[in-house]
Amino acid sequence: MSAIPRRERLIVALDVPSAAEARALVERLGPAACFYKVGLELFVTAGYFELVNWLVKRGHKVFADLKMYDIPETVARAVANLRGRGITFVTVHGNQGIMQAAAKEKGDLKVLAVTVLTSLDRGDLDDLGFSCDVERLVLSRARRALEAGCDGVISSGLEAQRLKSEFHDRLLVVTPGIRPVDNKPADDQKRTVDVAQAFANGADYIVVGRPIRQAADPRAAAEATQKTIATIFP
Ligand code: C5P
Repeated sequence: MSAIPRRERLIVALDVPSAAEARALVERLGPAACFYKVGLELFVTAGYFELVNWLVKRGHKVFADLKMYDIPETVARAVANLRGRGITFVTVHGNQGIMQAAAKEKGDLKVLAVTVLTSLDRGDLDDLGFSCDVERLVLSRARRALEAGCDGVISSGLEAQRLKSEFHDRLLVVTPGIRPVDNKPADDQKRTVDVAQAFANGADYIVVGRPIRQAADPRAAAEATQKTIATIFP
C-alpha cells in the first residue's frame, strides 16, 4: 500500500455531538489532518450529509463509519445510497451475506469489515459465546471479508501483523484504538498499540479519536502524529 499519501494515513474520528462541533474540530486541526471519520454519533444528528459534503468540498477524505448490520437487502440499499458522494470508506459489521451485499453495491466506495471491536477483550468475547482466541477470530473474519468482496478490515494493531502476513496488500488494514504513550490509561479501548507500533505491525491507516480531540492542543497532537508517520514512511 505504498501508494497511500502519507498524510492520509491518519484518520481523525469526529466523535462529537453535533455537525457544528465537528466543523469546529476540523477547522481547529487545519492542515494537520485530511482524512476524517464520521460515525454513528453524528449520523443520528441533523446535518450528517451536509457535513460530509462540506468535508469533501474542502478536499478532505471521509470515512463513513456506520458499521452497517441488517438484512443483506437493506445493507445493499444503504450502501448504494452512500455511493457517489465522495466518501472513501464505509464499514459493515456482519456475516457473509451482509458483507457480500455491501460489496456488490459499493461503486466508488471501499468497504471495510469490522472484525472484532477493539473495545472487546477475552472476557467480553466469552460473554458473547466466542470461545476461539481473538486472533483466530479476526483472521477468519478477514478471510471471509475478502471472499465477500470487501476491500479491507478494521482491526486492532495487535492483529495487523498476522493479517498482513496472511493477506499482504490484498487487504487494507485500518486500525483504531491507538493509544500514544502520553495518553491517559483508563478508557474503554482494551487492545491498543501506539502509532509507530500500529504501522510497524502493518496497519495502512490509523483511526485516532480521543488522543487528538481531548489533547490540550489537538492540532499539535495531530501534527505530532503526522511527524511520527513521516518518520515511518519517509
Ligand atoms: O477515541 P478513540 O481513539 O478510541 O476512537 C476510536 C474510534 O474508532 C471510535 O470512533 C470508534 O468508533 C472507532 N472504532 C473502534 N474499534 C473498531 C471500529 C471502530 O474503536 N473496531
